[in-house]
Amino acid sequence: MSLLHYRHGAHLESYRRTAHIRDEAAYRALYRRSLEDPEGFWAEQARLYLDWEKQWDEVHHWDPGSARCRWFAGGVLNAAYNCIDRHLERHRDRIAFYWEGEDPAETESITYGDLHDRVNRLSAMLRARGIGKGDRVALYLPMIPALPVSMLACARIGAVHTVVYTGLSPKALASRMADCRAKALITVDGMRRDGERVPLIPSLRPVLAPLPHLETVLIDARMDAGFSPDSDREVLWGDAAADPSLPEFVPPEPMDAEDPLFILYISGVRGRPKGVVHTHGGYLLHAAMTTRLVLDARPEEILWCTSDMGWIVGHTYGLYGPLLNGLASVLFEGEPESAEPARYGDIIERYGVDRLCWTPTEIRFARNGGALTGRDLPSLKLMASVGEPMDPETWEWAYHQVGGDRCPVIDAYLQTETGGILIAPLPGAGPLKPAFCGQPFFGVDPVVLDDFGEPVRHPNREGVLCIRRPWPGMARTIHNDHERFIDPYFNRIRGMYFTADAALRDADGDFRMLARVDDVIKVCGGRICAAEMEAVLRLHPEATDAAVVRFPHPVKGEGIYAFVALDAAVHPSDSLKETLLRHLREEIGSIAAFDVIQWTRALPRTRSGKVVRHILDKIAAGNVDDMGDAAAIVDPALIQDLINGRQTPG
Ligand code: PRX
Repeated sequence: MSLLHYRHGAHLESYRRTAHIRDEAAYRALYRRSLEDPEGFWAEQARLYLDWEKQWDEVHHWDPGSARCRWFAGGVLNAAYNCIDRHLERHRDRIAFYWEGEDPAETESITYGDLHDRVNRLSAMLRARGIGKGDRVALYLPMIPALPVSMLACARIGAVHTVVYTGLSPKALASRMADCRAKALITVDGMRRDGERVPLIPSLRPVLAPLPHLETVLIDARMDAGFSPDSDREVLWGDAAADPSLPEFVPPEPMDAEDPLFILYISGVRGRPKGVVHTHGGYLLHAAMTTRLVLDARPEEILWCTSDMGWIVGHTYGLYGPLLNGLASVLFEGEPESAEPARYGDIIERYGVDRLCWTPTEIRFARNGGALTGRDLPSLKLMASVGEPMDPETWEWAYHQVGGDRCPVIDAYLQTETGGILIAPLPGAGPLKPAFCGQPFFGVDPVVLDDFGEPVRHPNREGVLCIRRPWPGMARTIHNDHERFIDPYFNRIRGMYFTADAALRDADGDFRMLARVDDVIKVCGGRICAAEMEAVLRLHPEATDAAVVRFPHPVKGEGIYAFVALDAAVHPSDSLKETLLRHLREEIGSIAAFDVIQWTRALPRTRSGKVVRHILDKIAAGNVDDMGDAAAIVDPALIQDLINGRQTPG
């Protein structure tokens, strides 16, 4: 099917009649204005999308040398007020969340009014425990209503939430809490694993014990295990909520636009997680605008963003973006890999989902399961694919089989650090090309640079994507370590934001995102850093050395291939493999499970000790015909041994 079909396809013609931005000319005019008159453009948008208690003193400030950036500084607002209170007068009874448990019989419908009540109650509980503006509160919760309620309660009282994905281990949670000196943790007494609820508190207590700043562990008891708190700092949610002295209304804390709203950790080298900091003003504006203009959502609609709220997509398109726009969201407790593929269709049908935001991995998973093929889902109007590179076949399948040839499929590019979508086609403006992310969002000024840091001049040539100026939703710093913000993001290329993503632009100027140029591996839309896994593997007494690389995985997009060197006296075995998997799960979490392990006597290293990664990449990908220049390797005979020992991904 030609690309031209998608540029002028019939679906786009009928879709654009209702779109917020209805043609390419309208997009271009607004985009030009966002770059030529950023102050005017952003001031206008900030007034349109958010309610401010006090107007900002300056729209924008940027100092490339120190990578210090501000948007709407001096402006005062509150995220929870903007997400909930301002909708109440007219829409108290409108649904904010349809929650569905892993067990489809467990459901809840939460109106904006209910949400307001729950958020105020929890805000009052947190206040009563001495938690207030600027305090960090960690949330380690599955996808249950307590999670959005907790995020919003923190925002209401000005506390900074840090949601830790429950696929990360209690140890990983504790290292994040130590880094941000969390004063409180909100969690549950048990997590679901393969349909069963597994007690959590016994594994949490030892890792939380050494945290001196932790004063409160608020536990939502969901298991029938007769759990009882064992210290003053452990409090049961139900008990705390029953306190009759708590006020019913907690006034939203006035926050400066530049005050932090949340910290979201990304995988860094072990022991040093990187806490990406986002603010009240700029982030919320970016979330609200992209939800409305890229996902093209409107208040009476239902959005299902399948991402866990422990990731940026869940923050922006599962919580803040939809609520700021007065939408209803589906909150689903299940995980893509454990749910039945048919479940996607069932949920879309049951709630009449209008807009679906999912990942290429989920799309391939649904495709392989067969249950969605050709299923009639009349409510669906648009699909967005986020988090990983899209391939044309997956795009086509989603477009034809799920969207019934009528729903635009939007490939949208973002990162934890970007806060929201940076590059995506607008559904009414297009062009929609399979596997292309299209055009930059307003205010985003991207450029693809070659190895010399010069803009790539020819279409379809790969380079690294950089952004020439800050946008409102850009992260402001790495918590407590601004150097780790400056170095990787702004020192690589003369004050530009360095994305670490390879990309190309075609002759129409449309972007195609390719792969990370660093050691970040994207697994099912999640994010893990190879260096962190390597450090953990090397810690194990049986492993003398380890390297982790990605390889193309037919469903997950990228898989994890681990090379582990053992002492001569140690024999590789399935039980050692299981031991290493358990070790990774305990230190990092289930996300760090390798798909393939290859035992080796050593890793290919240069004389200076550097691992020659391109050789490992080729072996993992099965491209062993040409191993390139091996002269620099200390032990060239190792290469043949590695090729001979290659493991085929199962
Ligand atoms: O490599 C890019 C990939 O996801 C990375 C960011 O991961 P994370 O911070 O976990 O945020 C996920 C947000 C969905 C990026 O550096 N990525 C994200 N979206 C796309 C993508 N790669 C290709 N196409 C996309 N649409």
